[in-house]
Amino acid sequence: MDEQTNVKVKILRYNPEKDKKPFWQPYEVKIEPDATILDILNEIRWKLDGTLAFRRSCRSAICGSCAMKVNGRNILACETPMHRFKGRGLKIEPLPGFRIIKDLVVDLDSFFEKMNRVRPYLLLDKPIPDKEFIQSPEEFEEIREVCICILCGACTSSCPSVWSNEEYLGPAALLKAYRFIFDSRDDAADERIDIVNDKNGIWRCHTIFNCMEACPKHIKITEYLSRLKVKAVENSI
Ligand code: F3S
Ligand code: FES
Repeated sequence: MDEQTNVKVKILRYNPEKDKKPFWQPYEVKIEPDATILDILNEIRWKLDGTLAFRRSCRSAICGSCAMKVNGRNILACETPMHRFKGRGLKIEPLPGFRIIKDLVVDLDSFFEKMNRVRPYLLLDKPIPDKEFIQSPEEFEEIREVCICILCGACTSSCPSVWSNEEYLGPAALLKAYRFIFDSRDDAADERIDIVNDKNGIWRCHTIFNCMEACPKHIKITEYLSRLKVKAVENSI
């Protein structure tokens, strides 16, 4: 086992039932140098402060529940080693742009409500096939990258257009719309484009690129949103 090292961590704490406003709480943790941010949070909760609240489940960058902001960047705590921050102290806070429920746990209801607005499932005019729904490799290639979104919220939380207008669908929901509009099996592209071609839809994206930088799966979100804009214009001509 590598020798343990001391890490200084500040966490933005907030319990709306007793705190007037969020405040920074300092901790010092002794941990292996290859620890992740999630390892550090677990260490604090298990050994120093059982009141600290945060979400996690898979520990494998799949469930999307441990997204948070560390030293100014939205990341997944379970896949981010602390050495990425090169010996600096750590400042850990909840995803911005969402209401804090407690400490690092935010209210994602609005995020999933927007996701539902784009109807994130296949809509068909034709009968459902008895066996597989065949799609060629070329057709799948159109949506392959966007299918790896894990719904962590890091992109939507990083978007200044979302911060300034909470009605804006935001990058995650728009990416989900893209995923079905460009799916060769889906029959509702026109209906979906009407949903995104709305005053709170795709035109609220000002190509700021924060979403793409924040995405832990490195999805080229801004490029897909630009394709969605082109599609919306083509449809209205
Ligand atoms: Fe926001 Fe990403 Fe567009 S950060 S403005 S959704 S490019
Ligand atoms: Fe599942 Fe981090 S715990 S993505």
